[in-house]
Amino acid sequence: MEALLRGGRKGLGTPHRHYRSTDSTNTRARELAAAGATHGTVVTADEQTAGRGRQGRSWTAPAGKALLYSAILRPLDRRHLLLPLAVPLAVCEGAEELESGLECRIKWPNDVWVGESKLAGVLIEAKPQDGWAVIGVGLNLAILPHEFPSELREKATSLSGDASPEQARHALDRSLDRWVEADAGAILAAWRSRDALKGRGVSWNEGTGVAEGISDAGDLLVLSASGERVVLGAGEVHLRV
Ligand code: BTN
Repeated sequence: MEALLRGGRKGLGTPHRHYRSTDSTNTRARELAAAGATHGTVVTADEQTAGRGRQGRSWTAPAGKALLYSAILRPLDRRHLLLPLAVPLAVCEGAEELESGLECRIKWPNDVWVGESKLAGVLIEAKPQDGWAVIGVGLNLAILPHEFPSELREKATSLSGDASPEQARHALDRSLDRWVEADAGAILAAWRSRDALKGRGVSWNEGTGVAEGISDAGDLLVLSASGERVVLGAGEVHLRV
């Protein structure tokens, strides 16, 4: 029998549609959501030919070596205002369940890091007027250093390859089920405990400064080089550490 969550809602992962190859699982999931697909529908692929990242970037991974995952969340309501913070928490917990001893941190707003390298990325695409969001996650599972594009080699990392995409999908279904329903206090506390930037120098389009943590709305708080307190929203800035 399918797992039922608080309020009688079905968990993520049912139904599940898998592609050997598709342009982008987020694009497939958005089409399904627009056509009325139910909450919890998950799309995965072995390979993407036009995987998308945040801020117009592309996302690539060798076939079968990453979890390429998109889930439909609906209906959207006020509880989901902190979804961009809740999703990387779920990815951290899912990854830590797959590999013992792993410790994930989050680089604002939602990159998942191990040490100083990126293990997973999150792309959330929402249509609030229609009441749905697609949660896209790319989690590197078995990618060897030389398999990353040369410009990412220093900045990207992967799990060791022991976990299959299937195991990773189930772990993420479960951890997302917990975190998308979590209350704001729990999300903020857990996110702050994994903050990879706090106390570090950062630069963005218009300045440099030291990251001081996040506000209760999920914005990044920075003390700028000129001594001003700056509030950065995720949509607006290209951040460099
Ligand atoms: C980022 O770090 O810029 C976000 C990367 C998100 C990549 C995932 S892979 C599965 C899903 N489908 C996409 O086209 N993008 C997301």
